[in-house]
Amino acid sequence: MNIEFVEELKRQWMAMIDAIDDPLVIIDKNYYILRTNWAFARNSIRAGASSIRDFRGKRCYEIFVGRDTPCEHCRVRDAASGTINEQWVSRELFNDREYEIRAHVLMNEHGLPDANGHVVVHYRDLTEQKMLQERLAQSDKLAALGKLAGGVAHEINSPLAGILAFSQMVLKEMDSEDPHFSDLREIEDAAKKCKVIVEGLLGFARQERVSDVCEVNLFEILESTLRLAAPLLRKNRIDLESNLPGRGIVIANSGKMGQVFLNLITNAIHAIGQSGGVISVEGETTDTEVLVTVRDTGVGIEPHHLKKIFDPFFTTKPIGEGTGLGLSVSYSIIKQYDGSIRVVSTPGLGSAFTVVLPRGS
Ligand SMILES: Nc1ncnc2c1ncn2[C@@H]1O[C@H](COP(=O)(O)OP(=O)(O)OP(=O)(O)O)[C@@H](O)[C@H]1O
Ligand SMILES: [Mg+2]
Repeated sequence: MNIEFVEELKRQWMAMIDAIDDPLVIIDKNYYILRTNWAFARNSIRAGASSIRDFRGKRCYEIFVGRDTPCEHCRVRDAASGTINEQWVSRELFNDREYEIRAHVLMNEHGLPDANGHVVVHYRDLTEQKMLQERLAQSDKLAALGKLAGGVAHEINSPLAGILAFSQMVLKEMDSEDPHFSDLREIEDAAKKCKVIVEGLLGFARQERVSDVCEVNLFEILESTLRLAAPLLRKNRIDLESNLPGRGIVIANSGKMGQVFLNLITNAIHAIGQSGGVISVEGETTDTEVLVTVRDTGVGIEPHHLKKIFDPFFTTKPIGEGTGLGLSVSYSIIKQYDGSIRVVSTPGLGSAFTVVLPRGS
Protein backbone atom coordinates (compact mmCIF):
# COMPACT_ATOMS: atom_id res chain seq x y z
CA MET A 1 0.00 0.00 0.00
CA ASN A 2 1.48 3.36 -0.85
CA ILE A 3 2.07 5.79 1.98
CA GLU A 4 -0.10 8.57 0.54
CA PHE A 5 -3.03 6.21 0.28
CA VAL A 6 -2.55 5.16 3.93
CA GLU A 7 -2.34 8.82 4.99
CA GLU A 8 -5.53 9.61 3.08
CA LEU A 9 -7.28 6.65 4.67
CA LYS A 10 -6.15 7.77 8.12
CA ARG A 11 -7.35 11.31 7.43
CA GLN A 12 -10.74 10.02 6.33
CA TRP A 13 -11.10 7.85 9.42
CA MET A 14 -10.22 10.72 11.74
CA ALA A 15 -12.63 13.04 9.89
CA MET A 16 -15.34 10.48 10.39
CA ILE A 17 -14.61 10.07 14.10
CA ASP A 18 -14.43 13.86 14.53
CA ALA A 19 -17.79 14.30 12.82
CA ILE A 20 -19.43 12.39 15.67
CA ASP A 21 -21.00 14.81 18.15
CA ASP A 22 -20.58 12.56 21.18
CA PRO A 23 -17.24 12.57 22.99
CA LEU A 24 -15.10 9.50 22.19
CA VAL A 25 -11.77 8.50 23.70
CA ILE A 26 -9.46 5.52 23.48
CA ILE A 27 -7.78 4.76 26.81
CA ASP A 28 -5.76 1.96 28.34
CA LYS A 29 -6.72 0.02 31.43
CA ASN A 30 -5.06 2.64 33.64
CA TYR A 31 -7.24 5.39 32.12
CA TYR A 32 -4.37 6.92 30.10
CA ILE A 33 -5.58 8.65 26.95
CA LEU A 34 -4.35 7.42 23.57
CA ARG A 35 -6.65 9.30 21.22
CA THR A 36 -9.74 11.48 21.37
CA ASN A 37 -12.23 12.97 18.93
CA TRP A 38 -13.08 16.67 18.68
CA ALA A 39 -16.18 16.45 20.84
CA PHE A 40 -14.07 15.00 23.67
CA ALA A 41 -11.51 17.77 23.21
CA ARG A 42 -14.20 20.49 23.19
CA ASN A 43 -15.75 19.15 26.38
CA SER A 44 -12.38 18.88 28.06
CA ILE A 45 -11.53 22.48 27.25
CA ARG A 46 -14.84 23.47 28.86
CA ALA A 47 -13.86 21.40 31.90
CA GLY A 48 -10.60 23.35 32.18
CA ALA A 49 -8.05 21.48 30.04
CA SER A 50 -5.48 23.85 28.58
CA SER A 51 -4.44 22.43 25.23
CA ILE A 52 -6.73 21.34 22.46
CA ARG A 53 -5.55 17.84 21.68
CA ASP A 54 -2.39 16.92 23.46
CA PHE A 55 -3.84 14.73 26.11
CA ARG A 56 -1.23 11.98 25.92
CA GLY A 57 0.13 10.99 29.31
CA LYS A 58 -3.07 12.26 30.95
CA ARG A 59 -5.91 10.23 32.37
CA CYS A 60 -9.47 10.57 31.07
CA TYR A 61 -10.97 11.60 34.41
CA GLU A 62 -8.33 14.34 34.89
CA ILE A 63 -8.97 15.83 31.47
CA PHE A 64 -12.63 15.22 30.80
CA VAL A 65 -14.07 15.78 34.25
CA GLY A 66 -11.32 17.56 36.17
CA ARG A 67 -11.07 14.90 38.93
CA ASP A 68 -8.04 13.47 40.77
CA THR A 69 -9.47 9.96 41.06
CA PRO A 70 -11.54 7.73 38.75
CA CYS A 71 -15.27 8.46 38.68
CA GLU A 72 -17.16 6.48 41.30
CA HIS A 73 -19.16 4.08 39.13
CA CYS A 74 -16.65 3.78 36.30
CA ARG A 75 -16.60 0.36 34.62
CA VAL A 76 -13.67 0.95 32.27
CA ARG A 77 -11.50 -1.43 34.28
CA ASP A 78 -14.13 -4.20 33.96
CA ALA A 79 -14.23 -3.73 30.19
CA ALA A 80 -10.43 -3.58 29.93
CA SER A 81 -9.95 -6.82 31.81
CA GLY A 82 -12.66 -8.78 30.03
CA THR A 83 -14.24 -9.27 26.66
CA ILE A 84 -17.61 -7.69 27.37
CA ASN A 85 -18.58 -4.10 26.61
CA GLU A 86 -19.82 -2.20 29.65
CA GLN A 87 -22.56 0.40 29.83
CA TRP A 88 -23.68 2.64 32.71
CA VAL A 89 -25.38 5.94 33.44
CA SER A 90 -23.66 8.66 35.42
CA ARG A 91 -24.65 12.03 36.86
CA GLU A 92 -21.27 12.70 38.41
CA LEU A 93 -19.38 13.90 35.33
CA PHE A 94 -20.81 17.40 35.10
CA ASN A 95 -23.22 19.35 37.22
CA ASP A 96 -26.84 18.34 36.61
CA ARG A 97 -26.07 16.46 33.42
CA GLU A 98 -26.80 12.82 32.87
CA TYR A 99 -24.52 10.75 30.63
CA GLU A 100 -24.83 7.24 29.29
CA ILE A 101 -21.30 5.87 29.06
CA ARG A 102 -20.27 2.84 27.04
CA ALA A 103 -16.88 1.21 27.27
CA HIS A 104 -16.19 -0.90 24.17
CA VAL A 105 -13.38 -3.43 24.31
CA LEU A 106 -10.94 -2.73 21.46
CA MET A 107 -10.37 -5.79 19.26
CA ASN A 108 -7.20 -6.71 17.42
CA GLU A 109 -7.03 -7.82 13.78
CA HIS A 110 -7.93 -11.39 14.83
CA GLY A 111 -11.17 -10.25 16.45
CA LEU A 112 -9.79 -10.86 19.94
CA PRO A 113 -9.60 -8.34 22.84
CA ASP A 114 -6.62 -6.09 22.51
CA ALA A 115 -3.76 -7.43 24.67
CA ASN A 116 -3.06 -3.95 26.11
CA GLY A 117 -6.58 -3.65 27.49
CA HIS A 118 -7.45 -0.68 25.31
CA VAL A 119 -11.00 0.53 25.54
CA VAL A 120 -13.07 3.01 23.50
CA VAL A 121 -15.25 5.10 25.77
CA HIS A 122 -18.35 6.74 24.28
CA TYR A 123 -20.26 9.42 26.25
CA ARG A 124 -23.86 10.21 25.33
CA ASP A 125 -25.55 13.20 26.98
CA LEU A 126 -29.07 12.12 27.98
CA THR A 127 -30.04 15.30 29.83
CA GLU A 128 -32.33 16.89 27.20
CA GLN A 129 -33.95 13.58 26.30
CA LYS A 130 -34.68 12.86 29.99
CA MET A 131 -36.10 16.35 30.50
CA LEU A 132 -38.41 15.94 27.52
CA GLN A 133 -39.59 12.56 28.80
CA GLU A 134 -40.24 14.01 32.26
CA ARG A 135 -42.18 16.93 30.79
CA LEU A 136 -44.32 14.57 28.73
CA ALA A 137 -44.94 12.33 31.74
CA GLN A 138 -45.86 15.41 33.80
CA SER A 139 -48.40 16.69 31.27
CA ASP A 140 -49.89 13.17 30.83
CA LYS A 141 -50.19 12.83 34.59
CA LEU A 142 -51.86 16.23 34.93
CA ALA A 143 -54.26 15.52 32.06
CA ALA A 144 -55.36 12.26 33.73
CA LEU A 145 -55.63 13.96 37.12
CA GLY A 146 -57.65 16.78 35.54
CA LYS A 147 -60.21 14.32 34.17
CA LEU A 148 -60.51 12.50 37.48
CA ALA A 149 -60.64 15.66 39.58
CA GLY A 150 -63.17 17.27 37.23
CA GLY A 151 -65.47 14.25 37.43
CA VAL A 152 -65.34 14.06 41.22
CA ALA A 153 -65.76 17.80 41.66
CA HIS A 154 -68.76 17.82 39.36
CA GLU A 155 -70.45 15.03 41.35
CA ILE A 156 -69.77 16.75 44.67
CA ASN A 157 -70.86 20.19 43.49
CA SER A 158 -74.64 19.62 43.56
CA PRO A 159 -74.97 17.92 46.98
CA LEU A 160 -72.62 20.57 48.36
CA ALA A 161 -74.76 23.38 47.00
CA GLY A 162 -77.72 21.68 48.75
CA ILE A 163 -75.90 21.45 52.10
CA LEU A 164 -74.92 25.10 51.90
CA ALA A 165 -78.34 26.36 50.82
CA PHE A 166 -80.27 24.34 53.41
CA SER A 167 -77.94 25.19 56.30
CA GLN A 168 -78.22 28.91 55.40
CA MET A 169 -82.01 28.63 55.15
CA VAL A 170 -82.31 26.97 58.56
CA LEU A 171 -79.81 29.45 60.07
CA LYS A 172 -81.97 32.34 58.90
CA GLU A 173 -85.01 30.95 60.65
CA MET A 174 -83.23 29.76 63.78
CA ASP A 175 -82.88 31.80 66.93
CA SER A 176 -79.20 32.60 67.54
CA GLU A 177 -79.68 31.44 71.16
CA ASP A 178 -80.65 27.98 69.94
CA PRO A 179 -78.12 25.34 71.18
CA HIS A 180 -77.74 24.06 67.59
CA PHE A 181 -77.07 27.49 66.08
CA SER A 182 -73.25 27.34 66.40
CA ASP A 183 -73.19 23.72 65.13
CA LEU A 184 -75.08 24.80 62.07
CA ARG A 185 -72.64 27.69 61.54
CA GLU A 186 -69.83 25.10 61.61
CA ILE A 187 -71.64 23.13 58.90
CA GLU A 188 -72.03 26.28 56.81
CA ASP A 189 -68.33 27.20 57.22
CA ALA A 190 -67.17 23.69 56.36
CA ALA A 191 -69.42 23.62 53.26
CA LYS A 192 -68.01 27.01 52.16
CA LYS A 193 -64.44 25.66 52.47
CA CYS A 194 -65.40 22.61 50.39
CA LYS A 195 -66.94 24.92 47.80
CA VAL A 196 -63.64 26.78 47.36
CA ILE A 197 -61.85 23.47 46.81
CA VAL A 198 -64.46 22.14 44.40
CA GLU A 199 -64.41 25.38 42.40
CA GLY A 200 -60.62 25.16 42.24
CA LEU A 201 -60.82 21.58 40.97
CA LEU A 202 -63.41 22.51 38.38
CA GLY A 203 -61.16 25.36 37.29
CA PHE A 204 -58.27 22.90 36.91
CA ALA A 205 -60.34 20.48 34.84
CA ARG A 206 -62.43 22.90 32.79
CA GLN A 207 -61.73 23.32 29.10
CA GLU A 208 -62.61 26.84 28.10
CA ARG A 209 -64.75 27.68 25.12
CA VAL A 210 -62.89 29.30 22.23
CA SER A 211 -65.30 32.25 22.31
CA ASP A 212 -64.05 33.19 25.81
CA VAL A 213 -60.69 34.31 24.44
CA CYS A 214 -59.53 37.38 22.55
CA GLU A 215 -56.42 39.49 21.96
CA VAL A 216 -55.23 40.77 25.34
CA ASN A 217 -52.17 42.64 26.56
CA LEU A 218 -50.51 40.31 29.07
CA PHE A 219 -48.40 43.12 30.55
CA GLU A 220 -51.50 45.22 31.24
CA ILE A 221 -53.21 42.28 32.98
CA LEU A 222 -50.12 41.77 35.13
CA GLU A 223 -50.01 45.48 36.03
CA SER A 224 -53.64 45.48 37.16
CA THR A 225 -53.03 42.29 39.20
CA LEU A 226 -50.08 44.02 40.85
CA ARG A 227 -52.30 46.99 41.73
CA LEU A 228 -54.67 44.52 43.42
CA ALA A 229 -51.80 42.99 45.38
CA ALA A 230 -50.22 46.35 46.32
CA PRO A 231 -51.69 46.57 49.89
CA LEU A 232 -50.47 43.04 50.64
CA LEU A 233 -47.00 43.89 49.30
CA ARG A 234 -46.81 46.99 51.50
CA LYS A 235 -48.02 45.07 54.55
CA ASN A 236 -45.28 42.45 54.05
CA ARG A 237 -42.59 45.10 53.36
CA ILE A 238 -42.02 43.75 49.85
CA ASP A 239 -40.47 46.00 47.21
CA LEU A 240 -41.75 45.65 43.69
CA GLU A 241 -39.57 45.97 40.62
CA SER A 242 -41.29 45.98 37.29
CA ASN A 243 -39.93 45.91 33.76
CA LEU A 244 -42.72 45.47 31.25
CA PRO A 245 -41.62 47.13 27.99
CA GLY A 246 -44.13 47.58 25.16
CA ARG A 247 -47.14 45.35 24.74
CA GLY A 248 -47.35 41.60 25.22
CA ILE A 249 -50.28 40.62 23.02
CA VAL A 250 -51.59 37.05 23.31
CA ILE A 251 -54.87 35.26 22.61
CA ALA A 252 -56.35 34.42 26.01
CA ASN A 253 -59.04 35.23 28.54
CA SER A 254 -57.99 38.22 30.64
CA GLY A 255 -59.83 37.02 33.77
CA LYS A 256 -58.08 33.65 33.62
CA MET A 257 -54.67 35.22 33.05
CA GLY A 258 -55.32 37.57 35.97
CA GLN A 259 -56.00 34.48 38.07
CA VAL A 260 -52.67 32.94 36.97
CA PHE A 261 -50.71 36.09 37.88
CA LEU A 262 -52.53 36.45 41.19
CA ASN A 263 -51.58 32.84 42.04
CA LEU A 264 -47.93 33.47 41.18
CA ILE A 265 -47.78 36.75 43.09
CA THR A 266 -49.57 35.31 46.13
CA ASN A 267 -47.12 32.40 46.16
CA ALA A 268 -44.19 34.83 45.89
CA ILE A 269 -45.53 36.93 48.78
CA HIS A 270 -45.96 33.81 50.87
CA ALA A 271 -42.45 32.58 50.00
CA ILE A 272 -40.97 35.89 51.18
CA GLY A 273 -42.93 35.76 54.43
CA GLN A 274 -42.67 38.39 57.14
CA SER A 275 -39.05 39.42 56.81
CA GLY A 276 -39.42 41.54 53.67
CA GLY A 277 -37.89 41.09 50.22
CA VAL A 278 -38.28 41.85 46.55
CA ILE A 279 -40.68 40.68 43.87
CA SER A 280 -39.64 41.56 40.35
CA VAL A 281 -41.74 41.10 37.26
CA GLU A 282 -40.31 41.14 33.79
CA GLY A 283 -41.92 40.99 30.37
CA GLU A 284 -40.35 40.09 27.06
CA THR A 285 -41.71 39.77 23.55
CA THR A 286 -39.95 37.72 20.89
CA ASP A 287 -41.04 37.13 17.28
CA THR A 288 -43.20 34.20 18.32
CA GLU A 289 -43.72 34.38 22.08
CA VAL A 290 -44.60 36.58 25.02
CA LEU A 291 -42.79 35.78 28.26
CA VAL A 292 -43.60 37.02 31.75
CA THR A 293 -41.39 36.19 34.71
CA VAL A 294 -42.37 36.65 38.35
CA ARG A 295 -39.25 36.44 40.52
CA ASP A 296 -39.06 36.50 44.31
CA THR A 297 -36.37 36.53 46.98
CA GLY A 298 -38.29 34.03 49.09
CA VAL A 299 -37.46 30.66 50.64
CA GLY A 300 -37.12 28.88 47.28
CA ILE A 301 -38.24 25.34 46.46
CA GLU A 302 -36.47 22.15 47.51
CA PRO A 303 -35.31 20.19 44.40
CA HIS A 304 -37.39 17.14 45.40
CA HIS A 305 -40.52 19.33 45.56
CA LEU A 306 -39.99 20.87 42.11
CA LYS A 307 -41.65 17.97 40.28
CA LYS A 308 -44.72 18.09 42.49
CA ILE A 309 -45.61 21.76 42.74
CA PHE A 310 -47.99 21.60 39.74
CA ASP A 311 -49.86 18.59 41.18
CA PRO A 312 -53.32 19.36 42.55
CA PHE A 313 -53.30 19.50 46.36
CA PHE A 314 -49.53 19.66 46.69
CA THR A 315 -48.82 22.29 49.31
CA THR A 316 -46.20 23.00 51.92
CA LYS A 317 -48.46 25.50 53.65
CA PRO A 318 -49.89 24.61 57.06
CA ILE A 319 -53.22 22.75 57.11
CA GLY A 320 -56.07 25.13 56.41
CA GLU A 321 -53.87 27.78 54.79
CA GLY A 322 -53.42 26.57 51.23
CA THR A 323 -55.37 24.20 49.04
CA GLY A 324 -52.40 23.38 46.80
CA LEU A 325 -54.52 24.17 43.74
CA GLY A 326 -53.06 27.56 42.74
CA LEU A 327 -50.28 26.27 40.48
CA SER A 328 -52.22 23.30 39.08
CA VAL A 329 -55.06 25.60 38.03
CA SER A 330 -52.55 28.07 36.56
CA TYR A 331 -50.84 25.24 34.67
CA SER A 332 -54.10 24.02 33.14
CA ILE A 333 -55.10 27.56 32.10
CA ILE A 334 -51.78 28.16 30.37
CA LYS A 335 -51.89 24.76 28.64
CA GLN A 336 -55.29 25.70 27.17
CA TYR A 337 -53.60 28.62 25.41
CA ASP A 338 -50.77 26.38 24.10
CA GLY A 339 -48.33 27.97 26.51
CA SER A 340 -46.00 26.67 29.16
CA ILE A 341 -44.87 27.60 32.63
CA ARG A 342 -41.28 27.13 33.79
CA VAL A 343 -39.72 27.41 37.17
CA VAL A 344 -36.17 27.95 38.36
CA SER A 345 -35.55 27.97 42.08
CA THR A 346 -32.69 27.95 44.55
CA PRO A 347 -33.54 27.04 48.14
CA GLY A 348 -32.75 29.97 50.41
CA LEU A 349 -32.42 32.44 47.53
CA GLY A 350 -35.74 32.53 45.71
CA SER A 351 -37.73 31.38 42.72
CA ALA A 352 -38.63 32.56 39.23
CA PHE A 353 -41.78 31.43 37.44
CA THR A 354 -41.94 32.18 33.71
CA VAL A 355 -45.18 32.05 31.75
CA VAL A 356 -44.65 31.62 28.01
CA LEU A 357 -47.54 32.12 25.57
CA PRO A 358 -47.66 32.24 21.77
CA ARG A 359 -47.58 35.83 20.56
CA GLY A 360 -50.96 37.12 19.40
CA SER A 361 -49.82 39.85 16.99
N1 LIG B 1 -42.73 31.37 44.67
C1 LIG B 1 -42.63 30.26 45.40
N2 LIG B 1 -41.61 30.10 46.29
C2 LIG B 1 -41.49 28.96 47.01
N3 LIG B 1 -42.35 27.91 46.95
C3 LIG B 1 -43.38 28.02 46.08
C4 LIG B 1 -43.58 29.17 45.27
N4 LIG B 1 -44.68 28.96 44.51
C5 LIG B 1 -45.15 27.74 44.84
N5 LIG B 1 -44.38 27.17 45.78
C6 LIG B 1 -44.55 25.82 46.38
O1 LIG B 1 -45.49 25.11 45.61
C7 LIG B 1 -46.57 24.69 46.44
C8 LIG B 1 -47.84 24.64 45.62
O2 LIG B 1 -48.24 25.95 45.22
P1 LIG B 1 -49.77 26.21 44.87
O3 LIG B 1 -49.90 27.63 44.50
O4 LIG B 1 -50.22 25.18 43.90
O5 LIG B 1 -50.51 25.89 46.23
P2 LIG B 1 -50.43 26.70 47.59
O6 LIG B 1 -49.88 28.07 47.35
O7 LIG B 1 -49.72 25.85 48.59
O8 LIG B 1 -51.95 26.77 47.98
P3 LIG B 1 -53.02 27.83 47.37
O9 LIG B 1 -52.47 28.33 46.08
O10 LIG B 1 -54.23 27.03 47.22
O11 LIG B 1 -53.11 28.89 48.41
C9 LIG B 1 -46.56 25.69 47.60
O12 LIG B 1 -47.17 25.17 48.76
C10 LIG B 1 -45.07 25.91 47.80
O13 LIG B 1 -44.49 24.85 48.50
MG1 LIG C 1 -50.66 29.24 45.72
